Amino acid sequence: MKSTLQRTNDFREITFGRRSVKLYDPEVKISREEMSEILEGATRAPSSVNLQPWRFLVIESPEGKEKLAELARFNKTQVLTSSAVIAVFVDMNNVEYMDEIFGKAVELGYMPQEVKDMQLSAVKPYYNNLPPAALHDVNFIDAGLVSMQLMLVARAYGYDTNPIGGYERIK
Ligand SMILES: Cc1cc2nc3c(=O)[nH]c(=O)nc-3n(C[C@H](O)[C@H](O)[C@H](O)COP(=O)(O)O)c2cc1C
Repeated sequence: MKSTLQRTNDFREITFGRRSVKLYDPEVKISREEMSEILEGATRAPSSVNLQPWRFLVIESPEGKEKLAELARFNKTQVLTSSAVIAVFVDMNNVEYMDEIFGKAVELGYMPQEVKDMQLSAVKPYYNNLPPAALHDVNFIDAGLVSMQLMLVARAYGYDTNPIGGYERIK
């Protein structure tokens, strides 16, 4: 399919115009710079206690996509024709970044030191005691939010997307 999308800041066009697209124009290549901007926009998504548990892997080489296509039997066309596949992971050790994230917020003047201290003393033990299944749920909600925002930001940059849950998992 030949790409005809334009960049847009029209929110209505972005939300109503987004569709899960299965076949892409293989001539379209997203530059490194644009990809960074799109990911940066996506990561402005909210996350539980601002822990930003998402991690991305951008697969754009033909070899990488061939390998990936094997793991996505029902979604090969999207993997092979798109400019890039972005694998969204969650970091189940995200609590380890709590001090750093809150420290940065204090450093940048977004958060008073007392709030950081209070949050760390209350939230850190809570997170550390969460059963893995509960932490998994919290992190997966955040992954869904960042993924949605990623698709909308990509649409604003003139790119279609397709969320893909259909891939082989290691059980
Ligand atoms: C979590 C999730 C997983 C999905 N997995 C796939 C998939 O494996 N393959 C696919 O073609 N579409 C997949 N979709 C896309 C949905 O089929 C699509 O969003 C839905 O039919 C609505 O269409 P729209 O996105 O064009 O509005 C997935 C969507 C979500 C939210």
